[in-house]
Amino acid sequence: MTLNFLEEQYYRKSLFLNEEFFEVSYLPENIIHREQELIMLSKIFIKLIETPFRISRKVMIYGDVGIGKTAIARTFGRMLLLSANKRDIKIEYVHINCRIEKSNFKILNQVLRKLNCTVPIRGYSPQDLITILQDYLKSNDIYLVLVLDELNHIQNFNSNFDIIYSLTRLNDIDTSRYFLSLIVIVRDITLLRNLDESTISTLQGSILTLKKYTISQIVDILNGRIEKGLKKGIIKESFVHLIAEKISDSGDIRKGLNIIRNAVKITEARGKSHVSCNEIHHAIKNLIPSLQDDALSILTYHQTLLLYVITILLLERKEKRVLFSDIQKKYEEICFQYEEIPKKNTQIWNNLQSLKNYTLINIKTISKNVKGRKSYCSINSIPIDILNEELNQKINNFLLTR
Ligand SMILES: Nc1ncnc2c1ncn2[C@@H]1O[C@H](COP(=O)(O)OP(=O)(O)OP(=O)(O)O)[C@@H](O)[C@H]1O
Ligand SMILES: [Mg+2]
Repeated sequence: MTLNFLEEQYYRKSLFLNEEFFEVSYLPENIIHREQELIMLSKIFIKLIETPFRISRKVMIYGDVGIGKTAIARTFGRMLLLSANKRDIKIEYVHINCRIEKSNFKILNQVLRKLNCTVPIRGYSPQDLITILQDYLKSNDIYLVLVLDELNHIQNFNSNFDIIYSLTRLNDIDTSRYFLSLIVIVRDITLLRNLDESTISTLQGSILTLKKYTISQIVDILNGRIEKGLKKGIIKESFVHLIAEKISDSGDIRKGLNIIRNAVKITEARGKSHVSCNEIHHAIKNLIPSLQDDALSILTYHQTLLLYVITILLLERKEKRVLFSDIQKKYEEICFQYEEIPKKNTQIWNNLQSLKNYTLINIKTISKNVKGRKSYCSINSIPIDILNEELNQKINNFLLTR
């Protein structure tokens, strides 16, 4: 009988204490080396605690990839809620990622959902949702601190409805009470050129620019994760320095976390107990670009399913490439399993092309004649099992929120 691989996995000795600490979405209790930025945010928002409902703030946070923009906003959110709760001030902190909720409608719908305000799915315009939001905040005496993260991903900047403008005008003129402050996060201000001039100037009132971390700061941050996520002594301090140097140009902490995670995975797969220089170099060389940049989140659900199917086939067969027709078959099986209607062939093909354009897969077509044409898909980056796990998690998250 085939080995029960599930049992084998269950009893495997992992070098991780908890792999979750290497997830990009994990927010550490201690955000270090960003104290000045957190102090600045506290100065900007202190009036929300001193004189609640009397003021509205707009702040823009900007800086390069993976240097803690999202992390400091969330950390500040925690601080704000603690201070508000202590004084019985009803403040809600809602963090929306515009890469995921791409349209004005989706963003506002998600804000209302997070506030537990139920809205019928259809028949409402974004302007209606703004009115619903305003009424809800007013009647429940709630002050909302809204974060629009990765703002440049909003798709319909050019439509007649300006979400930023509308949100920043959520107040009650009669009683001069305010109900909303806004924090927007962007990597690059120039990406906002689609926005209305006046909106840009509104947003540029308070700008918080995050500088890159120094090498020693990167080492401290990575060590914080290693302490929590790995068994003791798995990775030498000098390797952490090496990784920090490697990523210091971009300052992208996410890259560093992925290198460590991959190096440990490779070490485990080789049955070794300590990470050596070889595994570090291997992990640096084969860093999956998609995971570095969190690019998987721009995939549609069916593109995610397709990529997942390719990883399954490659892992199952231990082969370097898989045939289009096999992908198609397996994709249909997986769709059936998740009670999803599979896309038609042309759409599957288009989705594969998108995956190729995102540099996630390679497609090679070998054709003697049109009839005998065969297309193979492969994934360059390894380890594929990490990619497979990541996709599995994304699909599960999707199923939970469906
Ligand atoms: N000062 C810090 N202390 C501890 N962890 C940090 C710190 N800065 C960043 N991190 C961690 O690094 C990772 C990347 O940070 P984050 O997601 O906040 O970057 P970002 O600037 O929002 O990137 P992007 O532009 O891609 O959205 C996260 O896992 C975060 O927890
Ligand atoms: Mg971010």
